Amino acid sequence: MTGATGLVGGGLIPLLRAGNPERDLVLLVRRPSAFHFPGCIVLEADVTKPGLGLGQAELSILSRQVTQVIHSAADIRFRISLEESRATNVEGTRRMLEFAGLCHRLERFLHVSTIYVAGKRTGLVAEGPSCSIAGFVNTYQQTKFEAEQLVLASMARMPVAIARLSSIIGDSRHGSVHQFNYFHQSIKAIPWNPLPAIPADPEARIDLVSSDWTIAALHLLFDECFAPGRVFQLCAGPERSWTVGELLSRTYDVFERHHVHLRLRRRPRMVPYSEFERVVDKLSHRLPASFNDWLGALLTFLPHLSLQQQFDNADTERLLAGRVPFPSLESYFQQIVEYCVATNWGRAAAD
Ligand SMILES: NC(=O)c1ccc[n+]([C@@H]2O[C@H](COP(=O)([O-])OP(=O)(O)OC[C@H]3O[C@@H](n4cnc5c(N)ncnc54)[C@H](OP(=O)(O)O)[C@@H]3O)[C@@H](O)[C@H]2O)c1
Repeated sequence: MTGATGLVGGGLIPLLRAGNPERDLVLLVRRPSAFHFPGCIVLEADVTKPGLGLGQAELSILSRQVTQVIHSAADIRFRISLEESRATNVEGTRRMLEFAGLCHRLERFLHVSTIYVAGKRTGLVAEGPSCSIAGFVNTYQQTKFEAEQLVLASMARMPVAIARLSSIIGDSRHGSVHQFNYFHQSIKAIPWNPLPAIPADPEARIDLVSSDWTIAALHLLFDECFAPGRVFQLCAGPERSWTVGELLSRTYDVFERHHVHLRLRRRPRMVPYSEFERVVDKLSHRLPASFNDWLGALLTFLPHLSLQQQFDNADTERLLAGRVPFPSLESYFQQIVEYCVATNWGRAAAD
C-alpha cells in the first residue's frame, strides 16, 4: 500500500489487519523512521522515483510475492503547478502500474481517486470513465483525472479498479478533523468575510462524507466487493447531499448559536459567478492585503458552489448493501464546525 501516512491509508491499516491478520502488509512510505506501524513491513519508497525508489532486491521479492495493491498516495494540494501535481499523481500512478505489471500473482489493484476528476462537468456524474471536456477547477482534479486515464488503460491487462472518494470533512463519531481542506478553510472565513456576496447557486448540491464511513466502506470494497474493471464512487450521492444554501445556513446557525463572541458579519448573498467578480472588483481597494491570497485559495474550489453537479453511487451502494451505515451529515455537522473553532482550524489541540 502507498499513502499509509495519510488520512485514508492510515485509517485503512487497522481495518486491513483486522480483516485478514494472516496477510503481510507492506507499506511504501517516504520517511519510514518518522512513523510507527506495528505489525507491518515498512519500506522506504517514493512513487515519483524509478522503481519506486526501491532497491533491486526489494523489487524482485515484492514482484514475486505481492498479490494485492492499494495505491492511495497522492499530492492533494489544489494550488500547486500542473507539473508538480503531475509528478506524484500521474507519474506516481504510472510507476505503481508498472510495478503492478511485474507482480505475477497480482489479484487486485485498487487506485484511490476522487469524484472531482469530473472537474466542471454538470449533471449526474456516473460511476464510469470520466471525460475532461468541461475542464477542471484546479490542478489536483486534472492530474487525478490523468492518473485515472492510465489506470483505465491498464484494465485490459490487469485486475485494476478505481475507488473515487468524496470530500472528507471529519469523523462522524466525535467530530474530529485530521485534515483541514477547502471545506474547513471556507468556513474559517465566516467570522471575518468582508464580502457581501459569494459565488454560489443555493440549489447546487455539495457532496460531503465522513472519514470513518469512507475508510470503512473503502476497506469493505477492497476486501469483499472488489471487482476488476469497475469504477466505484464512495460518496453521499444526490439524496444525502445538502444544497449549498442549506450548508451555508447551517454553518452560520452553528456560529451564531454557539460562538456569539465571533461577532459575525451579515450573511452574504449567493450570486452568479459573474456578479461575484464585479463585487470583488468594486471592493478590491478596501479589502485587507491578506484577502487576495485567501481569495486565490478559495477560487481553487469555489466554482463548485455554482455547479449543478451530482455524483451517482447507486451501484456502489448496492454492493455495500448497507453493511457500512452512512452517518447523516446532520448527525455530526455541528461537531465538525465546533471542532474547527475549538482547535483554531488545527492550530491548537481540541479539549
Ligand atoms: N482526503 C480527502 O478528502 C480525499 C477526497 C477524495 C479523494 N482522496 C484521495 O484519497 C487518497 C488519499 O488521500 P489522503 O486524504 O489520505 O491524502 P494525505 O493525507 O495527504 O496523504 C497522502 C499520502 O500520499 C503520500 N505521498 C505523497 N507523495 C508521495 C510520494 N512521492 N511517494 C510516496 N508517497 C507519497 C504521503 O506520504 P508522506 O507522509 O510522505 O507525505 C501520504 O501518505 C488520494 O489518492 C486522494 O486523491 C482524498
